[in-house]
Amino acid sequence: MDLPIRPRRNRRTAGIRALVRETSLSASDLIYPLFMHEKEVNEAIESMPGCTRWSLAGLVKEAGEAHALGIPAVVLFPAIAEELKTSEAEECFNPDGLVPRAIRALKEAHPSLLVITDVALDPYNADGHDGLVERNEAGELEIVNDETVAVLCEQALCHAQAGADIVAPSDMMDGRIGAIRSYLDESGFTEVSILSYTAKFASAFYGPFRGALESAPKEGDKKTYQMDPGNVREALRELILDEDEGADMVMVKPAGPYLDVIAMLREATTLPIAAYQVSGEYLMLKSASAAGWLDEEKVVLESLLGIKRAGADMILTYFAKDVAGWLR
Ligand code: PBG
Repeated sequence: MDLPIRPRRNRRTAGIRALVRETSLSASDLIYPLFMHEKEVNEAIESMPGCTRWSLAGLVKEAGEAHALGIPAVVLFPAIAEELKTSEAEECFNPDGLVPRAIRALKEAHPSLLVITDVALDPYNADGHDGLVERNEAGELEIVNDETVAVLCEQALCHAQAGADIVAPSDMMDGRIGAIRSYLDESGFTEVSILSYTAKFASAFYGPFRGALESAPKEGDKKTYQMDPGNVREALRELILDEDEGADMVMVKPAGPYLDVIAMLREATTLPIAAYQVSGEYLMLKSASAAGWLDEEKVVLESLLGIKRAGADMILTYFAKDVAGWLR
């Protein structure tokens, strides 16, 4: 054939492919979500094979190993004892609670490791919702916005006082980014960053995570605060608000089924973008690999590369430590 243009020339050898590769993945892109509980033993998580609910000591060790492999940050998710859960979720700002103690232990053992915390009420709330719950005259459940934001501010401050580098509100209440920013600033924590869950969808892919923390809503669902999976313009609206309110970084969650949302936010903002490969995405890859149907290392690396190619700067993934090891 008389073909002057042959795209395959750019794919001819590994060297050429490396030169022309547009996206790459490295351990420094990864944020490692870690589950923990009050107990002194590490416990396998039934709903998320391969993941562990760590004791405080186990958490510090696991985070240290991940950091040594080049992972810059962890994000903490506590399983709170049922007897500490209340309708006001006060345990979320107890300075001697599980999360503040974990932050202090992690920062002391690994000062250069970034500690990110989840700001939302669901692990602490007897109702399992991210906000405070009231029943209206019709007897329906309502997640009350403004009262919730006041509690989230206390929670974020409590994490900042314990030494968190970044607080990550995952609750989807209106106005929480601005409120938390001013509350932290007034309290002298101008250096603590906010990673906003900007476009967090009401997704069935969170199911296994709620099993891990026993934090599923006791009644109703999260559709009045998390976004409708059909919407993408609405993500832009949330982005504009979060930028105005002072978010330092924004997040799209889940990641894989929402690559178009990541790509759209990438076009629309100069802020760094995080994407969360959530528990259900983890399980799809993990279970198919365990059955021998997929090559785990290859599909995980490809799934994460796709998320970066869509426009994410950083990725929260339960595979973080494995990936950092594979990339070595
Ligand atoms: C809670 C929270 C959830 C996740 C992260 N923070 C669950 C939810 O919103 O119901 C899900 C993470 C995952 O599925 O891996 N605010």
